[in-house]
Amino acid sequence: MSLSSTSSTDTDLVVGQPVATPRRRGTLLIVDDEEGPRLSLQFIFKDDYDILMASNGPAAIELAQNNRIDVAVLDIRMSGMSGIEVLERLKFVDPSIEVVMMTAFETTDTMRQALRLRACDYINKPFDLATMRAAVANAMQRRTLESEIHTNAEKLQELLGELQNQKIEEQMTHTRGEIYASIIHDINGPLTVISGFIQIMNQRIGNSTRLEVEDLEFIKDRLRTITRQVTNCIEISRRYLSFLRRQTDEAPRVGVNQLLTDLSHLVRVHPSKQNNHFEIHPLAKDIGVSMHGTDVIQVLLNLTVNAFQCSPITHSVVVECRLLEQPLELGSFKDGPQERLLNVENFKNSAPLLKMSVRDNGPGVPAEILPKIFQPYFTTKGTNHGTGLGLNIVQRLIKEAKGALHVRTEMGEGTTFTVYLPAVPLATA
Ligand SMILES: Nc1ncnc2c1ncn2[C@@H]1O[C@H](COP(=O)(O)OP(=O)(O)O)[C@@H](O)[C@H]1O
Ligand SMILES: [Mg+2]
Repeated sequence: MSLSSTSSTDTDLVVGQPVATPRRRGTLLIVDDEEGPRLSLQFIFKDDYDILMASNGPAAIELAQNNRIDVAVLDIRMSGMSGIEVLERLKFVDPSIEVVMMTAFETTDTMRQALRLRACDYINKPFDLATMRAAVANAMQRRTLESEIHTNAEKLQELLGELQNQKIEEQMTHTRGEIYASIIHDINGPLTVISGFIQIMNQRIGNSTRLEVEDLEFIKDRLRTITRQVTNCIEISRRYLSFLRRQTDEAPRVGVNQLLTDLSHLVRVHPSKQNNHFEIHPLAKDIGVSMHGTDVIQVLLNLTVNAFQCSPITHSVVVECRLLEQPLELGSFKDGPQERLLNVENFKNSAPLLKMSVRDNGPGVPAEILPKIFQPYFTTKGTNHGTGLGLNIVQRLIKEAKGALHVRTEMGEGTTFTVYLPAVPLATA
């Protein structure tokens, strides 16, 4: 077996090019079982490329396994392993190697086979210098372009992924902000009552130094209201602070029913509500849930807004919560044209479970659309109306909390999204 490898020692820096980014010389593999053509090819290309040479198929494949080869010039007729087989194996080792076949009197069938195996060119033997140079230069260029395209495509994909995550985070933060704002806004009501009553009491007392019995009664009554409103304010601010502070392993202070009240405040003023009917059925007995309070509201709000938006005709949306004392029978759910269950792999399916469903009697989700609705940016509302992020965010939040998400839909009847989350006892005091 004659196997030799030469590599040129002169540098390939061209005067005037930046020194920091020397271009790698291409590597050319020459495979031929005859020494004559091998040496003449080496002589032709030694100044342009790093050269590797093999006199048979197995040696060529071994070289490809241990070196980054850009282009191979391959004799189709060799003793032992045929050129076609070598081509196939080389492509298996590295699909991006470009291969130029050298042929003598091959049938068109063999040539077709070579092209099918993605040889990039073929040259008749004996070859003339100019054709051979052009073929190898072409193959090298193709290889460089292809790897650049590949790297760029990968970079682009990475960038798109990052951008997508950023957008989704932004959207989540935005909704969280709205929820906080609405909670803080709740303090306004009681504060207005308090300040009004204090003014009235001030007027009543005026400059008098002694109070009549009825004045005293009047003031006592107003003070009772003020005390109630102050307690109210303290409650709201506690709730707000608990949203900000709560660690996931701490027992929650805010129960599901309180979150439903917050949801109803947000929904009441939401533009998508319009004239649609809206109902909330809270839990018979309140309980906590292993998800951040604002995230629970965000999940329900996204589902409720979608339910309002599913039809321009006045329809109804119902949010219902129930406590399940048994784990779910996952076998009874089947993904199909009208139904899907998500996050099963990650689902902590142990009782008690909180079941929260958002049901509408709108048009339903067409079977061909159902598998797509959880993809980021998928929307049927047009870019000016939908972000396509709502359901993706819902799914992410539920996954983080080890919950599951189910959707069932029927054309003309409506759609129900159901969230299952592990329920946890509320913090005492
Ligand atoms: N209750 C529903 N009824 C019918 N289709 C729905 C419902 N909820 C979601 N969809 C479909 O899922 C798509 C994606 O929803 P979503 O991720 O919230 O994005 P967006 O609301 O911005 O379109 C919607 O555009 C709609 O086609
Ligand atoms: Mg939406």
